[in-house]
Amino acid sequence: MKTYDLRTDLYTGEFAPGSIGCEIGVFFGDNAEDLFRIVQPAKLHLIDPWAPMPMPGYGGDKRESQSSRLNKTRDRLEQQIIQGRVIIHVGPAEVVLPTLQPVFDWIYIDGDHRFKSALRDLYMATNAVVSGGIIAAHDYYPKDDWETGEIGVYEAVQEFISETSWEVSAVAKDSCLLRDGVSV
Ligand SMILES: C[S@@+](CC[C@H](N)C(=O)[O-])C[C@H]1O[C@@H](n2cnc3c(N)ncnc32)[C@H](O)[C@@H]1O
Repeated sequence: MKTYDLRTDLYTGEFAPGSIGCEIGVFFGDNAEDLFRIVQPAKLHLIDPWAPMPMPGYGGDKRESQSSRLNKTRDRLEQQIIQGRVIIHVGPAEVVLPTLQPVFDWIYIDGDHRFKSALRDLYMATNAVVSGGIIAAHDYYPKDDWETGEIGVYEAVQEFISETSWEVSAVAKDSCLLRDGVSV
């Protein structure tokens, strides 16, 4: 298994320039901007409801409205959106992703971090990536103190790899990268 320091190192090492990628869970677009700058994808799809969601922590905010987060994302990626290289989808991943063609070279999951939701997103991603594609997930570490303690990405990945032919092939400080052992 390869080990990287930061998730940005993971992008440099594993995500091919000119690829077609997707980020689930965008927030203010910080990571989306990194993904675009580092990977230089042909197309980057961004999926977020930008609306209060059941997941604690990111579903609502007294200081900044969800629409201001969406606007910030649009502003910082304005040129790429105009060029058609960044496509914004406003809606939850479980609604949006199944409507997209399964063309993704990689999907980076950072949306609803609860165990069942993270597991759902992993399975959905298998239907949306191309053969030989990559699924990555953020907040991949066992811990129980994240805000309300509902983070379950690590456990979801463990269950996912135990039930499928997908394997963790690389890790960074806070992320993991999975490949399907069958198609490698
Ligand atoms: C941790 S933040 C994303 C941070 C972002 N990836 C970054 O690193 O800059 C989580 C985001 O997931 C979004 N989210 C929550 N439930 C979601 C769902 N079902 N589908 C897609 N996004 C979701 C929230 O609205 C929030 O913006």
